[in-house]
Amino acid sequence: MTPAKDIHRIGILTGGGDCPGLNAVIRAVAKTAMRQYGIECVGVEDGFYGLIHNQTRPLSFKDVSGILTRGGTILGSHNKANPARFCVGNDENGEPIFRDVTDRCIATCKQNHLDALIVIGGDGTMACAAPLVRAGINVIGVPKTIDNDLVGTEITFGFLTAVATATDALDRLHSTADSHHRVMVCEVMGRNAGWIALHSGIASGSDVILIPEIPFEPDVVCDYIAARMRSGPNFAIVVVAEGAMPRGGKQVVARLDPTSPDPIRLGGIGHVVAKMVEARTGAETRTTVLGHTQRGGTPIAADRILGTHFGYVAIETLMKGGVGRMVVRENNQFKDVDLLHSAGKQRLVPTDHSLIVAARAIGTSFGDYADRTAPVAKSAVIV
Ligand code: F6P
Repeated sequence: MTPAKDIHRIGILTGGGDCPGLNAVIRAVAKTAMRQYGIECVGVEDGFYGLIHNQTRPLSFKDVSGILTRGGTILGSHNKANPARFCVGNDENGEPIFRDVTDRCIATCKQNHLDALIVIGGDGTMACAAPLVRAGINVIGVPKTIDNDLVGTEITFGFLTAVATATDALDRLHSTADSHHRVMVCEVMGRNAGWIALHSGIASGSDVILIPEIPFEPDVVCDYIAARMRSGPNFAIVVVAEGAMPRGGKQVVARLDPTSPDPIRLGGIGHVVAKMVEARTGAETRTTVLGHTQRGGTPIAADRILGTHFGYVAIETLMKGGVGRMVVRENNQFKDVDLLHSAGKQRLVPTDHSLIVAARAIGTSFGDYADRTAPVAKSAVIV
């Protein structure tokens, strides 16, 4: 471990899927490090891929100025480079060959004289960083992901922008659904967590919210929609998380990538739900899959602020002597936790979350029998 007073040069790396606010964090980390402590900053390109291949570049004030509002990451990212299990080619059967190349990452840190590494990423990226922490590299993590599913923090930056993007899309679907008396099914991202669906569903006043944490009953969803089409406004909005599934059923997998630390790519449940609704209710139904629009574009103000705050706290944590820590927000306070504790774990929506209770109270369906037993929801079904 390098004592805080001996920190002269740090690396900054963005790993995993990109999200709005990455550049806000890079800017805050680099500016705080350079301005407050005279620390030199080195950008690692394309996440752990760049650390494995020693692809780095010095970062100046100029490099990190004017990037606050920019989507993506100026450093590039990669979601297939896990140092502990890196694909180095294929065998004669075309199967990928994996090697532990953690030593190459350590060599890059030494060659670039890095006293610490600021790693900005989600649970997969923190898991990739774990072997480096165990090998004595000082890593400070910053929690990123639109999915908001990182253990240890109540919020990740990027999430609120994704929610805003999804809400905007759902609002637009609302008016066209109304005009054509249709059911609009909108599939949003989130992997195994329903945070984006829950928040955007509530923000847009969607009628049905389907999340992975509450497997849905096809009968409940269709009865609810049929009742609304019959006696209510004659249109319906369904927001479905990509990880949602019927009770006793399975998630819909869009593709498998064995070279990625998380090989499963979800997607397709929106079409399944739409087909089911149309077949069972007779209501004309359309599907919209928002996909990567939720990851792209400029961060909303809240994410610029959160990213800036997280970036600043990351350097303060480092300079206070933090080793192998991840900065988090809990009860609206910024603090740091053991990075190894959060690595590779997912924070799902608790099924008794107060937002779910509130949504049920105003008549939103989660497609389960609780909708039918909750007294308020019962009377609100056909309002
Ligand atoms: O973790 C962020 C995320 O956008 C998920 O919501 C989604 O399931 C996944 O990444 C998509 O990954 P890819 O960019 O590899 O298609």
